[in-house]
Amino acid sequence: MKHLLKLLDCSSEEIVNLLDMADQLKYENKHNIPHRHLEGKSLGLIFEKLSTRTRVSFETGMYQLGGRAMFLSRRDMQTHRGEPMEDTARTLSRYLDGIMLRTYEQEKLERLADCSSVPVISGMTDFAHPCQVLADLMTIRETYAQLEGLKLCYIGDGDNMCNSLIVGGLKTGMEVAVACPKAYRPHPMVLDFAEHQVAEGAKFLLTDDVMEASKDADVVITDAWVSMGKESEAEERHIAFQGYQVNRDVMENAKTGAMVQHCLPAYRGQEITAEIFEEHADEIFEEAENRLHAQKAVLLALLGKKKI
Ligand code: CP
Repeated sequence: MKHLLKLLDCSSEEIVNLLDMADQLKYENKHNIPHRHLEGKSLGLIFEKLSTRTRVSFETGMYQLGGRAMFLSRRDMQTHRGEPMEDTARTLSRYLDGIMLRTYEQEKLERLADCSSVPVISGMTDFAHPCQVLADLMTIRETYAQLEGLKLCYIGDGDNMCNSLIVGGLKTGMEVAVACPKAYRPHPMVLDFAEHQVAEGAKFLLTDDVMEASKDADVVITDAWVSMGKESEAEERHIAFQGYQVNRDVMENAKTGAMVQHCLPAYRGQEITAEIFEEHADEIFEEAENRLHAQKAVLLALLGKKKI
């Protein structure tokens, strides 16, 4: 693995190795076992969109690994005045040991990686959110001690989270069922991938019926109806996503005791009811914590001596 740009680029084995490493790093963190494997290393964090979890978990993760992270906001960078991403990549590669980018277009992230001589990590694009989904898979595996054979149900926008959950879920042997409105389906490249997986025996369902997707699910996942950058579409999205909500009916239709995951921030009363959110808050905030451990695993795999 040279970069982490999307889970489509990772093998199943690489994903499982990252999850194993994340479990180990979480154990070491909880037991105050030093793990400063990135002493002297530095990571640039470029944010072209807002963030709470991604920024703080990457900064803290680098600190705990003995390195340092540098926050680089869009407002402060010459890219904001038109400097090409290619030149930014070649310049930052001379100073840093790794670059994380949160931006809109996946293509921009891929261009950064193409021109960078140091590892590049996705902090989320409109296409994918690989670090978040590694944390989700880690949290689900902590609860059920396995991923293979579990049913993952995603309800809502066929967005970056949906794309990455389909890929991550299928690559780790989960059954994946997605309920979304017809106009908000996952990316065609992801649907092609799912189709190939189905041909090899995987279970995947894409429907606009929330009850069909959530039937007997082990884990139910949702995301905001209005993602960052889609604010101008808020009104039409609020209409389109009516009914695509994780609520009591959905959870009663899922398996008894099913988990709920949400990447946050959550909009209560929209994609999830306040009642269901609070009932599953421990799982959801464990998922948020696991961003830290999963990303430390990614950092070690890409910037450390032990490659996976
Ligand atoms: N889930 C997630 O990526 O959170 P932030 O937008 O706060 O980083």
